[in-house]
Amino acid sequence: MLNVALPKGRLGETVYHRLAAAGFECPSILEKNRRLTFENEEKGVRYFWVKPSDVGIYVERGAADVGIVGKDILLETKPDVYELLDLGLGKCRMCVAGFADFYDDRERSLRVATKFPKIAAGYYESVGRDIDIIKLNGSIEIAPILGLSDVIVDIVETGNTLKENNLAVLQEIVQISARFICNKVSYQFRHAEIERMKDGLLQAEEARQAEKE
Ligand code: PRP
Repeated sequence: MLNVALPKGRLGETVYHRLAAAGFECPSILEKNRRLTFENEEKGVRYFWVKPSDVGIYVERGAADVGIVGKDILLETKPDVYELLDLGLGKCRMCVAGFADFYDDRERSLRVATKFPKIAAGYYESVGRDIDIIKLNGSIEIAPILGLSDVIVDIVETGNTLKENNLAVLQEIVQISARFICNKVSYQFRHAEIERMKDGLLQAEEARQAEKE
């Protein structure tokens, strides 16, 4: 059995459909219940749902042979894994955002609220700006509104959350999308199976694109 860590939520479901189209279906996964593991012996695959930010840990430690995870999580948690494929799903941008007329007074340290302290620290270090990181766990957009921070570093997908809170993108840091990752030891010992899954994912995407045209 190839153990596959899927990120719980909308991205995970989209990814599962891509894996099913690639020949690794496991229909019981779509039943509405609280189970977390599902297997299809015939296809040699076992799926489990984990919190998106934990996918890298499962794969790094070999509890999962492969997994699907956002590039944001990879950049933030830096797991020791191979990144095999950009799935082109879950596309969004990591950005600095704040009030559109925000003026950065470089005499003061900049207060940055974020769920991604490492990405934020790395970005501001690269531009030589001192910052004070305020680590939050969600609803980041509220921080500048309440004066808790000057700006935020966060994911922007449609831009609706920023717009509806009168905020704007001030800088784009990096483009994000879902990646197919692999445990380093598994890649050595289960190479053929993992490559078959990777190729299947690629072909499923090509077939989907061709259908759209
Ligand atoms: C994410 C992100 C933004 C929002 C961006 O939040 O942190 O708040 O989505 O999406 P948009 O550009 O399409 O509006 P999420 O839904 O994960 O909630 P949380 O960070 O508040 O937990």
